[in-house]
Amino acid sequence: MRILGIESSCDETSAAVVSGPASGPTLESLVILSQDVHRLFGGVVPEIASREHLTAIVPVTQQALADAGTTLERVDAIAVTHAPGLVGALLVGVSYAKALAYATGKPLIGVHHMEGHLFATALEHPDATPPFTALLVSGGHTLLLDVPEWGSYRILGRTRDDAAGEAFDKSAKLLGLPYPGGRHLEALAKQGNPKKHRFTRPMLNGGQRLGDPDYFDVSFSGLKTAVLLAVQGAEDLEAEKPHIARGFQDALVDTLVAKTIRAAKAMGRKRIVLGGGVACNGTLDEAMRAAAKEIRAEVFAPTPRLATDNAAMIAAAALFHAEQGRRNDWSLNAFSSLPMPGLDSSILHPSSAV
Ligand code: KG4
Ligand code: ZN
Repeated sequence: MRILGIESSCDETSAAVVSGPASGPTLESLVILSQDVHRLFGGVVPEIASREHLTAIVPVTQQALADAGTTLERVDAIAVTHAPGLVGALLVGVSYAKALAYATGKPLIGVHHMEGHLFATALEHPDATPPFTALLVSGGHTLLLDVPEWGSYRILGRTRDDAAGEAFDKSAKLLGLPYPGGRHLEALAKQGNPKKHRFTRPMLNGGQRLGDPDYFDVSFSGLKTAVLLAVQGAEDLEAEKPHIARGFQDALVDTLVAKTIRAAKAMGRKRIVLGGGVACNGTLDEAMRAAAKEIRAEVFAPTPRLATDNAAMIAAAALFHAEQGRRNDWSLNAFSSLPMPGLDSSILHPSSAV
């Protein structure tokens, strides 16, 4: 089975062709067009994002088909991100995918963006398959999941306020770095002294136990305030910036690693899968691998192209759903927020699950 995937939930217009089986998918092509215009505004402007998607979606899709050496007639289904994200941006992808499916008579498959992030790593690492613990860290979400099998998900922890990528971007802005600031902050932190600023690790050392709501949850807004206070209190701000960046990144990484290891231990998982744009962070990757080694778990992380928003992950998730016989009708709609399909919300804090 060969699937054309389309992604337009935020500020990347992307199309990809992935072929099956879902248990061993092959990436045949991937085109990602990043909307640089938002840099001028220091963040994504929803209305501009929709207009840019409108201009880009047809050529991006045609390029993905051409790169895969195929045509629309030769794909078996058309998949599209329909939630969560900017609703105007999502609508461009959903309307276009519906039109393609209607015109060609191919099945239409709507995919949840965060489920897409879960499938991204398996495109590069055949062993990144369930059961595993997943840490999804993007600009809009921070989710700690237990994945006993594809299509079956339990949320163990999530952010109480800012997403990890959002905390990176906001702190980067305070440090005068361009948007999106995650990778710039990481580069700056490399020159920083880890001992200069030791910010509090949120909800980590309060004696939480399994079953406590904050055992797996994270919170990053306090860390952002700590960065603001350090910036305001610096005598020589330019000299201090790398040290503040280092202090911020160390606190955030420590928190994410500790919570993920807690989750893997609690659920008895030996595989940890990372996803989302913040999974590009080399410090997070290294720290996660070191900590996982101690519990004899293996870490799988996607390369940056598949960690950040892309249509290959949407096509890969759709491959799984297509094999299960799932397809959408013309009522498929775009939603700014929507629970992931297959979510078992009864086990939010799994004191009873272990
Ligand atoms: O998954 P993604 O491409 O988009 C969303 O679905 O939100 O993630 C984008 C986020 C941004 O916040 C960006 O700053 C962050 O990923 N990011 C990083 C790095 N590269 C991208 N954060 C930390 N370190 C990086 N190297
Ligand atoms: Zn994303």
